[in-house]
Amino acid sequence: MSASRPAAVIVLAAGEGTRMKSRTSKVLHELCGRSMLGHVLAAARALEPERLVVVVGHRREQVTAHLAEHAPDAEAVVQERQGGTGHAVRTTLERVGALTGTVVVTNGDHPLLRGETLAALVRTHEDEGNAATVLTTEIPDATGYGRMVRAADGGIDAIVEHKDADAAQRAINEINVGMYAFDGALLESALKRVTTENAGGEEYLTDVVAILRADGHRAGAHLVADWVETLGVNDKVQLAQARRRLNDRIVEAHMRAGVSVIDPATTWIDVDVTAAPDAEVHPGTQLHGRTHLEEGARVGPNCTLTDTRVGAGAAVVNAVCTGAEVGPEASVGPFAYLRPGTRLARGAKVGTYVETKNAEIGEGSKVPHLTYVGDAEIGAGSNIGASSVFVNYDGVRKQRSVIGSHVKIGSDNMIVAPVTVGDGAYTAAGSVIVQNVPAGAMAVARAKQRTIEGWVERRRAGTPSAEAARRVRETEGEQGADGAGEPADGA
Ligand code: UD1
Ligand code: CA
Repeated sequence: MSASRPAAVIVLAAGEGTRMKSRTSKVLHELCGRSMLGHVLAAARALEPERLVVVVGHRREQVTAHLAEHAPDAEAVVQERQGGTGHAVRTTLERVGALTGTVVVTNGDHPLLRGETLAALVRTHEDEGNAATVLTTEIPDATGYGRMVRAADGGIDAIVEHKDADAAQRAINEINVGMYAFDGALLESALKRVTTENAGGEEYLTDVVAILRADGHRAGAHLVADWVETLGVNDKVQLAQARRRLNDRIVEAHMRAGVSVIDPATTWIDVDVTAAPDAEVHPGTQLHGRTHLEEGARVGPNCTLTDTRVGAGAAVVNAVCTGAEVGPEASVGPFAYLRPGTRLARGAKVGTYVETKNAEIGEGSKVPHLTYVGDAEIGAGSNIGASSVFVNYDGVRKQRSVIGSHVKIGSDNMIVAPVTVGDGAYTAAGSVIVQNVPAGAMAVARAKQRTIEGWVERRRAGTPSAEAARRVRETEGEQGADGAGEPADGA
């Protein structure tokens, strides 16, 4: 049976999170491309609640700004003073008004919990006709958690917080995960009767269970077999553990969908990354944001890709790419840096020690070595000689260069924008191109070479260079050899 839509999911995120020792709100710490709160909200959305409410308090400016940017479907309710989890929910109900039907409450610091599990909680709640249903699990070390006191009928009598528990209760290893389904009206009535008479001096949400039982209602539990999924995050050690587990889950899902991951232990993939079957990810690679790999794309070793698309059969090796599009059969790296707005067409190549930005590189064109291409458009089948720079910035403005198709830019060229090089044109090595080059022309824009014969022997006498020069002169004198031929152009 499928669960009905809850009236609301209330996410508790007002606590201080002292143990994170951070200026950043605990729930905004990131794992796998999303904040902890973002993961909880994603699970909550799986229930399609009518209202998605986040209780904010500590560092609320950060949290509300984050919600406005990443979760505009969520409404923030301010809890001015952190009077406990019960106080947080009571404040919320006062603010949003009466909620009839099922109300789900979840802690904001359980990033591994899946939407399916929350849905199963709601199903149990409805199937059993409970006033309250608590998500529980059995863990080896229950220290710090609320313990589940089971009733004879299999339901629950109470949740006892660790601080308030006696030795017998502390021996219980079934704990309250911190996720609940309630009947909205009964929750409201019970919260009005929650007191602060406990070791924490706070209004405990967990006390609602015993209150509802005393009223003669049924409270139940939905037990999660895999306690790892319920792990909460209170410090940066637990955050790293949760990140590791979540990454394992994501990487495994990609492998099951046909992606080859050579070394899952050194591969990090964000939740929103997509990849087609037979994409290949090599060790030491991180795929962030909305990165997408097409079928047969090979990425890594040692790549960091953010919001980058890699086409079918393309290869990216030892590269950092952000906001780039690598066309099918294209190749990138090793040691390349593709910045936003880089677009490589089919079969294009960006090689070693090359940086690109706002650059369209046409089909089959090559930028093989030691080059910066910024704010440029390069047609098809062109080649950019080693060690060239697209000079795009005059200190005030960024300007564009346009290189046509089948152009050969010589090595060590400065392409000074704005400039256009027509189809089929050549430029000589070492040129500084400041004027447009028409199609089919050869542009030579460098000083003419001046050669001063015998200079080294005269001006650097006694050096190994002068000695070497003398030996050549003497041998040539004996053999009556010719001078050097024409210098090679090197374009
Ligand atoms: C809570 C439960 C405990 C459970 C554990 C699971 C209570 C009384 N206890 O304990 O049974 O085993 O979670 O992790 O609920 N928060 C607010 N406002 C407040 C206080 C807390 O929004 O005034 C938020 C926190 O930001 C956090 C969540 O509520 O997201 C839980 O609060 P926390 O103080 O961590 O509760 P625990 O002591 O861990
Ligand atoms: Ca906690």
